[in-house]
Amino acid sequence: TAHKVGYFVGSLASQSINRKLAKALTLLAPSQLEMSEIPFKNLPLYSYDYDDDFPPVAREFKQAIDAVDALLFVTPEYNRSIPGGLKNAIDWASRPYGQNSFTRKPSAIIGTSPGAIGTAIAQQNLRSVLAFCNSPQMNAIEAYIQFTPNLITDAGEVTNKGTEDFLRGFIGEFATFITRVRAALPRDE
Ligand code: FNR
Repeated sequence: TAHKVGYFVGSLASQSINRKLAKALTLLAPSQLEMSEIPFKNLPLYSYDYDDDFPPVAREFKQAIDAVDALLFVTPEYNRSIPGGLKNAIDWASRPYGQNSFTRKPSAIIGTSPGAIGTAIAQQNLRSVLAFCNSPQMNAIEAYIQFTPNLITDAGEVTNKGTEDFLRGFIGEFATFITRVRAALPRDE
């Protein structure tokens, strides 16, 4: 069966290397996965003052998450954690209390950095957040991608064969994981 996957790009930068990685993954994904971006840059900073009446931009954001079967986080590491914009988006999606959009929604994490540890610490931070939000997470394959110049073109073409094969394996494994979680944890019960 087909799975709809919504992906978050953790960076708001116009030349984001994580956006290039997301593009590559959409091209390498098995045909079973329907990939679409869930943008979050227009969300205001969250506070629970909004909980009684979410603004339209936040309602649309939560509806976009509701409309997909799984979430893929493609994120840089900023100061050894995830970027503030991404954390803000997750806080919005988790609320109001009792309407957590992540419940039973399978997720996977990947990221790239020019640094040698390739976003490993940010990913570990994000795992804690998503665990609290009750999202079943794919634990393996882990993917820490060190971005060397031109590793992925603006069009999403991976210029290194080993990296391309690894990324295809990662996104293929995610498809299998989504199938398993959806069978075990139907959301519409
Ligand atoms: C960084 N960068 C960075 N890299 C890293 O590996 N670990 C880190 O903790 C940080 N911290 C950090 C903080 C801030 C505020 C910035 C702007 C950058 C470097 C970062 O990996 C690099 O800028 C990437 O290009 C970020 O990915 P995007 O935004 O291009 O997708």
